[in-house]
Amino acid sequence: MKTGKTMGLLLASAMLLFSVACSNTEKAPANASKPEATKESTSATKAPAATPADKKITLGFSQVGAESGWRTANTKSVQDSAKEAGFDLKFSDAQQKQENQIKAIRTFIQQKVDVISFSPVVESGWDTVLKEAKDAGIPVILTDRAVDSKDTSLYQTFIGSDFVEEGRRAGKWLVDTKKDAKEPVNIVELQGTTGSAPANDRKAGFEEVIKSNANLKVIASQTGDFTRAKGKEVMQAFLKAHKDIDVLYAHNDDMALGAIQAIEAAGLKPGKDIIIISIDGVKDGFVAASEGKINFIVECNPLLGPQLMQAVRDVVAGKQLPKRIVTKEGVFTSEDAKRELPNRQY
Ligand code: AHR
Repeated sequence: MKTGKTMGLLLASAMLLFSVACSNTEKAPANASKPEATKESTSATKAPAATPADKKITLGFSQVGAESGWRTANTKSVQDSAKEAGFDLKFSDAQQKQENQIKAIRTFIQQKVDVISFSPVVESGWDTVLKEAKDAGIPVILTDRAVDSKDTSLYQTFIGSDFVEEGRRAGKWLVDTKKDAKEPVNIVELQGTTGSAPANDRKAGFEEVIKSNANLKVIASQTGDFTRAKGKEVMQAFLKAHKDIDVLYAHNDDMALGAIQAIEAAGLKPGKDIIIISIDGVKDGFVAASEGKINFIVECNPLLGPQLMQAVRDVVAGKQLPKRIVTKEGVFTSEDAKRELPNRQY
């Protein structure tokens, strides 16, 4: 009898110990620094004391620059979300130069960060540095812009907009608006940074759609580098060279806003004498649209921070991510912009 009781007590204590150990592993923070560490902490027999799973995640992020309102909103989203997630964020601004981004990525590798993320200023020329990160065992997450690397094992996932679709949406609105046009419609295009994914894709998507109407003709197309100053400068040149511009298609709001200054300085009415289509949907773009100076805006969402931090957590926890995570976006006419303006966050 006595032996039975002792055995029972022993069994009960063993079960208690086991359940404490298990509940400790269940509470292990999601921000485990390495997949191996997560596996280790699931062993019920090990003490749950300071394992690598408790380590703060270090994220190295190389940003394109500060060229537009979109970019400012994107930077804030990344910084705020990293803080909220409790990550140690190493942030580097590349000032629109690929060599600065490559340098920053190499520094992150030397610093042995847990994850590297970047928004590539241009599409090509990343294979070598991405291979260096892979060899160092540091996962890479692309945000906002894509790379053209054939070897997709060089990065975990790409989170961002479908830029081709954005170009198509811009083109579709113009095709619908000008469906009854009997005369040629002269379009000028302000492209984003040369060689960047959004410039390449927005151009391609737009062209794909407008070719359905032979009256729609792009008579001039040049880069405005996604900045207001360049948008204004190039639009001035377009206005000098062409007296018969009907439509401006700008790859972002900032260039459209710069172009509006040039159009007004030339004594013309933006939105009336020249129809304006742009991409992004930042607050200043919405203000211009609600005043009727921009006719149509295709949204490009800069608030990628929360999705990025979740992806970082997942990668660190050893989860396989889909190779492509597309952000949801809408489109806005001047009337929509008027309604939406008070709710615009950025
Ligand atoms: O990559 C996204 C683009 O970059 C935005 O449309 C533009 O405003 C930014 O500079």
